[in-house]
Amino acid sequence: MSAPVLPDFPWDRLTPFKSQAGQHPGGIVDLSVGTPVDPTPDVVRQALTAAADAPGYPQTYGTPPLREAVAAWFARRRNVPDLDPAGVMPTIGSKELVAWLPTLLGLGAGDVVMHPQVAYPTYDVGARLAGATPLAADGTLQVGPAKNAVKLLWLNSPGNPTGRVLGVEHLRKMVEWARSVGAVVASDECYAELGWDGVEVPSILDPEVCGGSHEGLLAVYSTSKQSNLAGYRAAFVAGDPVLVQRLLEIRKHAGMIVPWPVQEALRAALGDDEHVAQQRERYRRRREIVREWLGAEGFKIDHSQAGLYFWATRDEPCWDTVADLAGRGILVTPGDFYGPAGARHVRVALTVSDERVAQLADRAAGPDGSSGSTRGNLR
Ligand SMILES: Cc1ncc(COP(=O)(O)O)c(C=O)c1O
Repeated sequence: MSAPVLPDFPWDRLTPFKSQAGQHPGGIVDLSVGTPVDPTPDVVRQALTAAADAPGYPQTYGTPPLREAVAAWFARRRNVPDLDPAGVMPTIGSKELVAWLPTLLGLGAGDVVMHPQVAYPTYDVGARLAGATPLAADGTLQVGPAKNAVKLLWLNSPGNPTGRVLGVEHLRKMVEWARSVGAVVASDECYAELGWDGVEVPSILDPEVCGGSHEGLLAVYSTSKQSNLAGYRAAFVAGDPVLVQRLLEIRKHAGMIVPWPVQEALRAALGDDEHVAQQRERYRRRREIVREWLGAEGFKIDHSQAGLYFWATRDEPCWDTVADLAGRGILVTPGDFYGPAGARHVRVALTVSDERVAQLADRAAGPDGSSGSTRGNLR
């Protein structure tokens, strides 16, 4: 038996640039990783604390009140009035589900897992862990003769790293296509509450997208970003109850259980829209500052209608951009981490404190374009 061939962990390649940026006298402005930096809301901490006494094993399926809270959240926030709580299960953050979904669905050699061309790397990793074949393609025309081997189609809207949002019409076509070839659709929607400039972010489970049937569909969701809960590992999958039962059977055997205090914290997070609105407002303000800075630096911004990133290019190789900015104490992520099609973009994250983001004003290039800490014209 041979171990799956996994890609190198790309972030290691960024380490020298991180060290370089860290030597800037004003300190690093780290716009690379998407890890939340603001406090976990009180309403969630209190729920966690209140559930601290947890001597028994929790339910892999999630408590009924949690599954109902997820259905109520979908009805209130995602225009999905008809989610059956039987089709809901908590997950230990959503990254593990992304990595294990092909395996849990029983996929293997000869099966194809399709995912966006420029994508969060774990879709590819999950296909490899199952022994299936990853296929990076945005449209069904790119699939060609492999189409009958596609067993799982990953969608990611709003997308990481691009911030691209797929509209109702696009999603509907993808669902129709997947159903016609017998593929499951898994839609990773964890940035859905972070749409900007009035953009609508439809869910795969929205009746306008799926025609009122959740058969063959799974929405993957996480509260890591919208509720500053990445450290809790609080996420869920929702959609087709038959598929969820299949996943549940294996997860019960494998002990893939969300701790009960975290289930309670997740339930509290989903029941409170106020802290999400507050967090969103923080990101909106930082986004304006970063957008202005990118403009002053001559970047073109693509997509980026939603989520926590700008997908930006100066029409040069991404590592040139990374190196230039690192010299000025700023760290961004090279686009080729997300696939070769990203080789001329960088991903610029908004997960940075107000104090750090304000530093961008002091990090403009010198008048001759040289790296330096000359005060720019952003103030
Ligand atoms: C597109 C996407 N999916 C899933 C995840 C994983 O989120 P978590 O494991 O914190 O729930 C992330 C995190 O950055 C992401 O960007």
